[in-house]
Amino acid sequence: MTTAAAAPFGSPAAGAPAGAAGGAPAVAASARQVTKAYGTGETRVTALDAVDVDIARGRFTAIMGPSGSGKSTLMHCLAGLDSVTSGRILIGDTEITGLKDRQLTRLRRDKIGFIFQAFNLLPTLNALENITLPMDIAGRRPDRAWLDQVVETVGLADRLRHRPAQLSGGQQQRVAVARALASRPEIIFGDEPTGNLDSRAGAEVLTFLRRSVDELGQTIVMVTHDPVAAGYADRVLFLADGRIVDEMADPTADAVLERMLRFSGADAPAAGARPAPAPDALRKGADDRTAG
Ligand SMILES: Nc1ncnc2c1ncn2[C@@H]1O[C@H](COP(=O)(O)OP(=O)(O)OP(=O)(O)O)[C@@H](O)[C@H]1O
Ligand SMILES: [Mg+2]
Repeated sequence: MTTAAAAPFGSPAAGAPAGAAGGAPAVAASARQVTKAYGTGETRVTALDAVDVDIARGRFTAIMGPSGSGKSTLMHCLAGLDSVTSGRILIGDTEITGLKDRQLTRLRRDKIGFIFQAFNLLPTLNALENITLPMDIAGRRPDRAWLDQVVETVGLADRLRHRPAQLSGGQQQRVAVARALASRPEIIFGDEPTGNLDSRAGAEVLTFLRRSVDELGQTIVMVTHDPVAAGYADRVLFLADGRIVDEMADPTADAVLERMLRFSGADAPAAGARPAPAPDALRKGADDRTAG
């Protein structure tokens, strides 16, 4: 029997609801001893180092950590976009490590939604067409009532006939959120979904992500550099050097910022050798967005 104190960060004991109604597993995705290495020999980089984590169903999880700590890699491995070097990934009850390409593609299509930093909308399609595009490609008819609810939740009802160029950045990202929600995926992954937005548009999108968790029961995992964005989540996982080194339940922006500053201080080689970075320095620069 593991005690809460002895349980590793990200372990099932920490933060997962005790059991979901209706028999659905309380865990939407999990990683077991996942290691991911890039390259070989001298250039080998261990991007993930024996990561264990459970992502609770119907909750909003944020992943934070310095640039290069493995956030995007963890998200890509959890989403089946990248293969692991060793360990296992499960989406719900399905182990995805070891699935054949075609099975994996189908699982991604049916169970996973993505929101990227760049909105990735097709410019010639209007908002509604963009939202239903993945289902159109898959030859699936959208559930009309659900679609209406999604459009309502993200506040786009009066913008459905607009093309992306006719929408603000925040509205475009809300279209991308609606597109991710439309097929009722088991889990939505976002890699810095508010990274290209000003703080007001970012707040809009984060509010809708929060509502999709609270009102639609969506599971969301979001990578972010922004303590304010992390404050919208139910739980924050902190990565450093490919490991989950800490986590926080019911985060606030202030508590997350305080934790980030404490980490960067603890990393310093000697007291006073390196000043703590200003909050701005902790945020990702717009120019390194290709890193992940
Ligand atoms: N395709 C790749 N080939 C080689 N190394 C890679 C590759 N992708 C990532 N890495 C390395 O793996 C480590 C983790 O990268 P990752 O993109 O997951 O970091 P991140 O935490 O998302 O950083 P950022 O905040 O800058 O997006 C880094 O050292 C990175 O250089
Ligand atoms: Mg990244």
